[in-house]
Amino acid sequence: MSEHSEALSQTPRERRVFVKTYGCQMNVYDSQRMSDALAADGYRATDEIGEADLVLINTCHIREKAAEKVYSELGRVRQLKAEREAAGHEMLVGIAGCVAQAEGEEIVRRAPVVDLVLGPQTYHRLPEMVARARSGTKVVETDHTLEDKFAHLPAPQRAPTRARGVTAFLTVQEGCDKFCTFCVVPYTRGSEISRTVAQIVAEAERLAEAGVREITLLGQNVNAWHGMGPDGREWGLGRLLYRLADIPGVARLRFTTSHPRDMDDDLIAAHRDLPALMPYLHLPVQSGSDRILKAMNRRHVAADYHRLVERIRDARSDIALSGDFIVGFPGETDADFEATMRLVEEVRYAAAFTFKYSPRPGTPAADMEFQVEPQVADERLQRLQALIARQQREFQESLVGQEMDVLIEKPGRRPGQKVGRSPWLQPVILDETLGEIGDIVSVRIGHTEANSLFAAPPGAT
Ligand code: 5AD
Ligand code: SF4
Repeated sequence: MSEHSEALSQTPRERRVFVKTYGCQMNVYDSQRMSDALAADGYRATDEIGEADLVLINTCHIREKAAEKVYSELGRVRQLKAEREAAGHEMLVGIAGCVAQAEGEEIVRRAPVVDLVLGPQTYHRLPEMVARARSGTKVVETDHTLEDKFAHLPAPQRAPTRARGVTAFLTVQEGCDKFCTFCVVPYTRGSEISRTVAQIVAEAERLAEAGVREITLLGQNVNAWHGMGPDGREWGLGRLLYRLADIPGVARLRFTTSHPRDMDDDLIAAHRDLPALMPYLHLPVQSGSDRILKAMNRRHVAADYHRLVERIRDARSDIALSGDFIVGFPGETDADFEATMRLVEEVRYAAAFTFKYSPRPGTPAADMEFQVEPQVADERLQRLQALIARQQREFQESLVGQEMDVLIEKPGRRPGQKVGRSPWLQPVILDETLGEIGDIVSVRIGHTEANSLFAAPPGAT
């Protein structure tokens, strides 16, 4: 149909792709790489789903709610596709990400509107899959291929990188071999793979050349990253961070998400030695109860976590911690939950994500006895959230009156303002005359509102 209209017009109409991303930052990164791969194939990104020739939904399977969203989104897409087709246009629909990996063919059966289903290890073959789907074949690819998708995906291009701003994600590691009993990641993303030092350094250099000032290294288990360095020795994430900090233009580095068991001495030393490494660490513990930690197969106890936090704080006293917590894991008693509350009280978080346990088919915990009553889990969730919200407020208030470096990221919502980011990840609203986007400026925090910090006006004492 669009082949036909192209044949009639002199210049082929540029195709458009609309990408919607659910879930974690790794999905955000993957969506960008998919857009880059499609750009090389003539697809321009659009924010208007109604004008898209290709709709790609990059999905998350971590909790049940996240997966269900995909099917309700597809209900809306079906309507749009019908309207576009009635007007003589194409609209291919693709499902990528972890729901695609977990459900495969089932998606096409349940939602016939879908034309292609692609798992996270197949994105380098996207243009070829789209071509097959355009010829009317339903395409389902969910292999955990042995080939290195990163070696085949186009590197980030200058123009789209610039358009994405002065901060960027860079996936260095994928998959997980830890097999926490609640988690689908080892099944959806597969076993752990690390990208090579050369690939990572080259990508970071490209980002820096395009004007990126802050790079966040990503991995489901980012601090399990390891690779052969140019010195012929095995490097861990700490060593890699020293190397990346040497790249001209890279002013800030972050990494997420870390497992407590993989926080080695080099990585802690990097937090002590590298001014570019921001003093913020996402270090999920999930529970404060040793019994539950064991049932979760976390392979650490609460005391290990406390000792680790102490070592990290000894190395970098101003480091802020964030975490993930699951309440209502099977068998969690009141006493187990109180142990989690105690751990949070003792650690003092700057922020944290809290989740009600969601049984994921195929994971060991889903079959465990003594699933917790939903209303008990709800009450626990509320108590934990209130405690964390209080700690977050206290942390923010402790920053009022402090001088800090802020990376200016974008124009503000109100005229005369710009928005930057503090070393501890909060948005900072500042006067636009204080600097240009991409500058790092020193400001004093005047007050805080919700999750944002407000810089004192220039000249204020
Ligand atoms: N139920 C609830 N929360 C979960 N998470 C992972 N799997 C589940 C599940 N089945 C949470 C963990 C993890 C974060 C990304 O999501 O806290 O760290
Ligand atoms: Fe999931 Fe545990 Fe691996 Fe994190 S460490 S991705 S929670 S299995």
